[in-house]
Amino acid sequence: MPDSPLGIPPDMRPAHVAVVMDGNGRWAKQRHLPRTIGHQRGRRAVRRLIEAAHQLGVPYLTIFAFSSENWSRPAAEVDALMRLFLKALQRDIDEMHRNGVRLRFIGDCARFSPALQSLMQQAEARTAENRQLFLQVAVSYGGQWDILQAVRSLMASGDALPADDAALRARFEVQLATAPCPPVDLFIRTGGEQRISNFLLWQLAYAELYFTDCLWPDFDRAAFETALAWFAHRQRRFGGVIDD
Ligand code: IPE
Ligand code: IPE
Ligand code: MG
Repeated sequence: MPDSPLGIPPDMRPAHVAVVMDGNGRWAKQRHLPRTIGHQRGRRAVRRLIEAAHQLGVPYLTIFAFSSENWSRPAAEVDALMRLFLKALQRDIDEMHRNGVRLRFIGDCARFSPALQSLMQQAEARTAENRQLFLQVAVSYGGQWDILQAVRSLMASGDALPADDAALRARFEVQLATAPCPPVDLFIRTGGEQRISNFLLWQLAYAELYFTDCLWPDFDRAAFETALAWFAHRQRRFGGVIDD
């Protein structure tokens, strides 16, 4: 891993960062603009984050773009978000590919329009060999959905479940939508709320949780570096004891 401009040693850097990109609506409201404009500005913040993660040597990044619960928003907002996803996929994919980003969508994608599903599949296929940054975009995603679909896949195999917990756990984890990505080290949520909102549930088991009031469209490289510096000072114990 390259040494980052932050001077944080590689072993103090998170391998997997997961981000709840919240606050687009409030960012727009503060400016008396429609919520859609907040989402558009949020897309710029996503591009900045991807670039920063790549440059700062974070190998796995998972971003929450649309939750399974977000389908309950007014149809006009859901439509606007779908149009924005389409546009982002059409316009941003070349740059991502050039930068060596491997793109994967996780979530119940069958709920999207055939056009969007086809673009998502094309983007995944095109970037499948890239190795600079593994970017997972959680869309129509819910942590509970992920656990249930993993259980279904496990049961569908018809094999007897191992009696040993470690073996069962290994068999279960490979069925999660995020496999084979490592567990999340650093969870970031913008927008001031301190909740998980059904994002990665299993995968966050030992993540460090970082909350900031910064609204998502304002989240820039400096804000990301602040989160990484905060992470570098956490003492992770994983249930054990560390001698001082
Ligand atoms: C996050 O911003 C983006 C999505 C959930 C799609 P919000 O739209 O939730 O913005 P706030 O929380 O209303 O400010
Ligand atoms: C979480 O934000 C989902 C995304 C950022 C995509 P929400 O705005 O949907 O979360 P709640 O409703 O405040 O919990
Ligand atoms: Mg919100």
